[in-house]
Amino acid sequence: MAEAQARQRGGNAGDGSAAAEDGVRYEVDGEIATITLARPDKRNAQTFATWSALARIGESLPEQVRVVVVKGEGPSFSAGIDLRMFTPEGVPGQGSFSTAVKIGDAGFEQRIRQAQAGFLWLRRPEIVSIAAVQGHAIGAGFQLALSCDLRIVAEDVAFCMKEPALGLVPDLTGTKPLVDLVGLAKAIDICLTARTVHADEAMRIGLAEQVVARGDLEQAVQDKIAQLLSTNRDAAAATKRLLQGASHRTLEEQSVAEGIEQAARIKALFG
Ligand code: ACO
Repeated sequence: MAEAQARQRGGNAGDGSAAAEDGVRYEVDGEIATITLARPDKRNAQTFATWSALARIGESLPEQVRVVVVKGEGPSFSAGIDLRMFTPEGVPGQGSFSTAVKIGDAGFEQRIRQAQAGFLWLRRPEIVSIAAVQGHAIGAGFQLALSCDLRIVAEDVAFCMKEPALGLVPDLTGTKPLVDLVGLAKAIDICLTARTVHADEAMRIGLAEQVVARGDLEQAVQDKIAQLLSTNRDAAAATKRLLQGASHRTLEEQSVAEGIEQAARIKALFG
C-alpha cells in the first residue's frame, strides 16, 4: 500500500513535516503494519512527538492488520529518549524536563500516561507485535522493544535500561514485561546496574525469541510473519487473550476461560 495513504491513517505521522519531527514512518500492507523509527542520524532517539505518533497509529490501526512490526533504521534500533530533554533548551516545540516540572505533578503524570499510550496498544490480542532489534536499544528504545509481543534480534543487539543511571525510572511500560520475561532478580540486575545485555544473554534469559545475523534480520521477521499469518485470525486473537490472562488466573479459572473461548470458536465455525 502506498506509504502516503497509510500515513494518512496514522494521523500526525501523515504529513512529511510531522513525520520528520516525530521520527516515525508508518506503512500498512494488507494484514501487516510496519512502524519504522526513522531518525538514524540521531540513532532513532525518541521524543514526546514520537510517542504521540505511536499512540495515533494504535488508535487508527486498520482492523485488517494482524501483525505489527516495529523496527529502527540505521545502526541502532533506538538510543532512547532524546537527550535534548535534559538540556534547558529542550526539544523545539516540546520543551524539556525543566519546563515539564513547571506543569506540576498531575500535569506531568498525565503527559506520561499519554506517552505510555503509544506503547500499550502493541499488546492488543487482535495483533501480534514484533520488534526487529539491531544495535542499541537503550532506555525508551529497550522499553519499546519490551512493549512488543516478540523480539527478533540481530547478533549485535545491545539492550540497556539506562534510566536509573540518569536518575530516572523506566516509565514507558517496560518494567512489567521485563519482569514477566526474565523474572524479578534478573530484572533488578539489568535495571539497577544499567548494564548491557547482549544477544547471547538476551536469548538465554528469554528477552529474545530469535537471534540472527544482522543481514538476516529482515528475512527472519518476514518468515515469522508468514508463520503467524498461517493460523486462523480469530483463533489467534482468542488464544492470545487466554495466554495473556494465564498468569493472573488459577488453573481452574484458566480452564473455565479456555472453555468459554472454545465454545465461541466452535459456534463461529460450526454454528
Ligand atoms: N538523543 C539525542 N541524540 C542522540 C541520542 C539521544 N538519545 N543518541 C545518539 N544521539 C545522536 C548523537 O548526539 C549523534 O549526533 P551528532 O552526529 O549530531 O553528533 C548521533 O546521534 C550519533 O551518535 P553517536 O554517539 O556518534 O553514535 P554511536 O553509534 O557511536 O553510539 C549510542 C550510539 C551508544 C546509542 C550513543 O549515541 C549513546 O550512548 N547515546 C545516548 C543513549 C542514552 O543515554 N539514551 C537515554 C536513555 S534513558 C531513556 O531513554 C529514558
